[in-house]
Order: sequence, then structure tokens, then C-alpha cells
Amino acid sequence: ILCDLPRERKHILEVLFNGLRRLEYRGYDSAGISIDYEPCGATKSFGGLKDLAISHPPLVFRQSGKIEKLVTSVYQEVDETELDLEVSFLNHVGIAHTRWATHGPPSPKNSHPQSSGERNEFLVVHNGIVTNYMVLKETLLRHGFTFESDTDTEVIPKLAKFVYDKLSAAEDSNKTHQGGGSGVSFQQVVMEVMRQLEGAYALIFKSPHYPNELVACKRGSPLLIGIKDVANDAETRDGFSSLKDLGRSKELFLASDASALVEHTKRVMIIEDDELVHVKDGSISIFKFDPAKNFGGLRRPASVQRALSTLDMEVEQIKKGNYDHFMQKEIYEQPESLRTTLRGRLIPGDHFKAKGVLLGGLKDHLRTIRRSRRILFIGCGTSYHAALATRALVEELSEVPVTMEIASDLLDRRAPIYREDTAVFVSQSGETADTLQALEYAKSHGALCVGITNMVGSAISRGTDCGVHINAGCEIGVASTKAYTSQIAVMTMLALAVGEDSISTRARREAIIDCLGELPGVVKKVLQLDEKMKELATTLVEEQSLLLFGRGYNYATALEGALKVKELALMHSEGILAGEMKHGPLALVDETLPIIVIATRDGTCSKQQSVIQQLQARKGRLIVMCSNGDAATMCPNGASYVIEVPQIQDCLQPIINIIPLQLLAYHLTVLRGFNVDQPRNLAKSVTTE
Ligand code: G6P
Repeated sequence: ILCDLPRERKHILEVLFNGLRRLEYRGYDSAGISIDYEPCGATKSFGGLKDLAISHPPLVFRQSGKIEKLVTSVYQEVDETELDLEVSFLNHVGIAHTRWATHGPPSPKNSHPQSSGERNEFLVVHNGIVTNYMVLKETLLRHGFTFESDTDTEVIPKLAKFVYDKLSAAEDSNKTHQGGGSGVSFQQVVMEVMRQLEGAYALIFKSPHYPNELVACKRGSPLLIGIKDVANDAETRDGFSSLKDLGRSKELFLASDASALVEHTKRVMIIEDDELVHVKDGSISIFKFDPAKNFGGLRRPASVQRALSTLDMEVEQIKKGNYDHFMQKEIYEQPESLRTTLRGRLIPGDHFKAKGVLLGGLKDHLRTIRRSRRILFIGCGTSYHAALATRALVEELSEVPVTMEIASDLLDRRAPIYREDTAVFVSQSGETADTLQALEYAKSHGALCVGITNMVGSAISRGTDCGVHINAGCEIGVASTKAYTSQIAVMTMLALAVGEDSISTRARREAIIDCLGELPGVVKKVLQLDEKMKELATTLVEEQSLLLFGRGYNYATALEGALKVKELALMHSEGILAGEMKHGPLALVDETLPIIVIATRDGTCSKQQSVIQQLQARKGRLIVMCSNGDAATMCPNGASYVIEVPQIQDCLQPIINIIPLQLLAYHLTVLRGFNVDQPRNLAKSVTTE
């Protein structure tokens, strides 16, 4: 949104395209954009009067496929229609969207912005799902609306148009009867829409009825405002008592995540659930929407003051640098990301005092956690695996039983949770819809809620009672790598902190703390396996399937390794608890199916040794991962491939063991010719249920 600042249409398009490029990792099956239209000759009005705007509705471009396809098609159309890119706008509202399909396949008609109809009277971009869209659609159909897309989103602009017409008609008759009347405001329209919507959303509305205005709102899905060029005015003011003053800024940005903003500004405001943002003539107002109140009561909603936060992110973090892919960069960043995760958190001991860890965000809650009747670990995907990798250590050091919950399954079962429970929510993004809903559920049952996230200011870090940031830095590759290892490091520190008052485990805890300190150096060494893993990948490139057997601390490694191969290389891959081998998976074993057995040294290693023997007895095609120097003992009859890794403390070994598997998945994907950073059908943060 440009306020009081002439900028050419080309600049506006480029800002929006770039924002989409930054957000592409969150969804990349189709995209769209809308900008204001001003015909030649009408430009002198700078920003347009309402009539002009209505007679020239905003332009909308939509495309299936990647952002670059949209960019090419827009410029092509610009050429064909001879649209003037040099037209300047004093004020301008543009919106754009990159989609991860929920309702309807990727296609131009299903891309956003979705429109109210012919003249684009209301345009909407949406992140989330409208769960009651069928009911709304039926009502709108009865009122003569026609629908062109298969999306749930299309009901939103159509509902806005319906509401606008209804309120305007009421306003007109009011004027006739009583005289005066101030017209229907944009935020009034959107509030009524919000009142009728069910589900999760972050929405941005644009309308030619309200030129130079924009309304955004959210429930469930994330939304940030970035403010450029106000730092000097605003920073000195206490708590920014006047948002209106902030609005005199030159450029405002609304986005689902910080990566789209950071190259413009680090000054942001986080929008909370059930809030509505109204930008008009360059001033921002935030209102609290109360869904319980009827429309009459919403005419003067409570306005909200919001302090600015500073993004802790550098533009370099969201660039690939010299690497071919973000995933490769993030794998290689692990020595540094782990160092950052651990920084300031390992406390040296002395003769009198044991070595310890300092987790500022948890210190006031450790007693409660220790006294919990149970600890629940809740997450999805890779975050769930990270939690699983540390379950045994948390149980060992805290002596509190830990149960594992995949967020969606916890919700499906409406599983019992009690006030005496501690629920730990693990999420890289801090925005995953399932995890977020599980958090609401646990909160409503009175459990102490702890958040382990990478994103400061995310919904989970804000919604939990306490927590720890993993500080792994921005992760762009859709498949999580460095966040996984940092999550394990943080959860290990959580176990150490919860168990810190036990004398009997002091030596064990101190050994783990020493090992944590050495971790970045060891990770650097493991990365030297890159070439070997590439070589292994070449032998597997034609395979249909890959099994990974792990147990104990490394059951999670097997699951996570399999997930990486599956999601990136699009090869069927399964992580199997080795203890279950005899109960089914053994039937699959033959000379052709490649099987990775994780058999690094720990308490379960002799059991893995017999797993290897049983597999060899059936002529299994084995790839064995073992500790340095253990190849001959672990697989006396040889293996088709051996991956030797440095041995560290058993509970931290998953951090080391996953790295060759990340590299293997990476190379397999490159060799098979698939997209490393944007695997088919997936998205980085799944903010819809
Ligand atoms: C998606 C991502 C995964 C991630 C999972 C959980 O599926 O593709 O990489 O592990 O969501 O995300 P979270 O942000 O909650 O860790």
C-alpha cells in the first residue's frame, strides 16, 4: 500500500511479485495479483476519485503454476494491452497471493484474488479455509450470485458485495428518512462478512468503492503489517499511542509472514485473532471484532493500540547465497544454527555447582513441569519427529511419563488432557493449524502449555504459557532440516532443565552438556559425508522404495529420514521401528529392496546387530549406518554400503545421524530431477486444517 508517495505501476508490480517470490515456499501451485487501473488521461487525479475507480475496476491477473509464470503472463498482457507501466500513483493498494490448493485444483479461476463478480467490486486474497462456505454459497446463489471457481474463498468477495448492497440500501433509505448519513464504511462491510464466516483465515479486501483503502482481518491464520519509513518518527513515541500517525508512513505491507517484509522494513505489527486492520488515506486503525455481538453493536468497534516489533531477520537469511538450493544451504548451516540455538544457554559448573542449562522462557515453570502428572509432546511432521527423538531423555531425566501426540490425531480423538499435564507444542513455524488448534484445546483443559518454535512472535509462541525459541534462523526449504536438529537440541536442554535438581543424574547431565558444546564441531565433520551420500544416492536413484530401520533414540531418525526421501525424492520410503521388524516388515525383505539400518552405538545397538543378522540371513540389501570403526562388528558379513558417523552421547546421536540422511534425500531428489525446495503438493507452513 503506497500512501502519499507517487510510484510507478511497474514498481508496484515488482514489489508484489517479489513478495510472492518470498512467500512462494508457503504455497506454489498458482498465483494472482490485482493492481489499480488508471486509464491514460485520467492519471492527473492521482489516486483516483471514487467514481473514477468504479468506472475503472482494478486489474486482476491469475495463473496456475509458479510465480514466474504469473510474472511472465502479466508482462505479456501489459505489452498486448499497451498498459502504461509508467503511470504514477500517489496512493495505491495492490494485493497478491500464492496458493496452496485446498478446494479446487490449481487453475487461473481458482487462484486468488477471488472476485465478487464482473466489475471486481470486491477482491479478496485468503489464507485459510472457510468451513461453512457451502451454506454461504447456497444463500448467495439464491440471491442471484453466480460462481466461477471451485474455491471456498469465492464466497467471501461475493458475501462482501451482498453485504455492501444491503447496507447501502439501508443507508440510502435512512438518508431519505432522516437526512445525512455517513455512508457504509469498508470496515463495516468486512465485519459483517467476518461475522458470517466460519473457519480460519487471514484476508485482505480491496474494493473500487473504497479507493486507497484496504481492510484486512484474521482468525487463525497469521497476518503481519510492515511499516516502512516510520522508524524515526515512531520509535521515540511511547507505545505508539497513535496508530494514525504511523499511517503517515510511505509504504505499508501486509503479509502472512515476515520473509515478504524483511527487505522493505523490520518494523512490524502482529495482528491478533479477530482483529481487523483498516488503512485509509495512509492511516492505520486496528479494531477488535467481537463475533458474539450483532452487527448493530459493531458500528463502533473497540480500537486497539499495538506496539511495533522489530524483526530479528536479515535479508541474507532468505537468500540462497552460493548454494544451489535452500535445502542444501540449510543442511550446511547446521553447525552455525546449532551454535546459535545453544548460545548463552549452557552454564559451566564448578566444584560446588553442577553444569546446567539456562532456558529463560522456562525457568519460572520448571517446578510445575517437574510435578506434572504427564508431559505431552504435540506436533506435526518433522517437528513431531524431533519431539520423538527426545522423548526417552525427557522421561529419563524428569521421571515424568511422556506421551506423543500428532496434533491432528489428538484433536480427532478429543483425547483427555488434565490440569496436571504439561503440553509441549513443537513447531518450526509456530503457525501450523493442527498444532495451533491442539494448543487451544490443551489450554481449554487447563494444561500448562509450553511452546518450542523457531518463529518469534508466531501464534504458538504467543499462545503458550512459556517456551523456548530454537533460534535456528529462517528456514525456507519446505522440507525441514536445520530446524529439526535445533529442535532436538532445545528439547534436550528442556530435559536437562527439568531434571536439574536430581543428584543421581548429575554425571549424565554434565556429560550431555559437554557433548552439546561440542556438537557444532561434530556436525561439521559429518557434513564431510556429502560426497559419499551422493555416491549412495546414485545407486538408489532408480529404486521404487526404501526402508529405514531404527530403534530407541533413532526410531525418530528412521521416520525423519524416510519422510525426507518420501517428500523430496518422491520415492516410497518407510521408517520402521526395528523391534517390529518380525511382525510384518520382514516379509518385504529380498535381495532388491534397499534397507538402511541405523545401528550407531547405544543401549539398543546389540539388538540392532541381531536385526542386521536376521536381515542378512534373508539376503537383504543392507545399507548400515554405524559408529566410526564399528563396521566390522556391526555387519561381519558385509553390507552393500556402510555409513560411518562419529559417536557422541547416545541421546544426541539423532542430530548426527539425520545429517547423512538429509544429504541422501537431497542428492536423490536432484538426481531424480525433482524440485528440492518446493516438493510437489506440499507447503512450508500448513496454516489450514
Ligand atoms: C509441513 C512442512 C514440514 C513441517 C510440518 C510441521 O508439513 O512441510 O516441514 O515439519 O509442516 O510444521 P511446523 O512449522 O509446525 O514445524
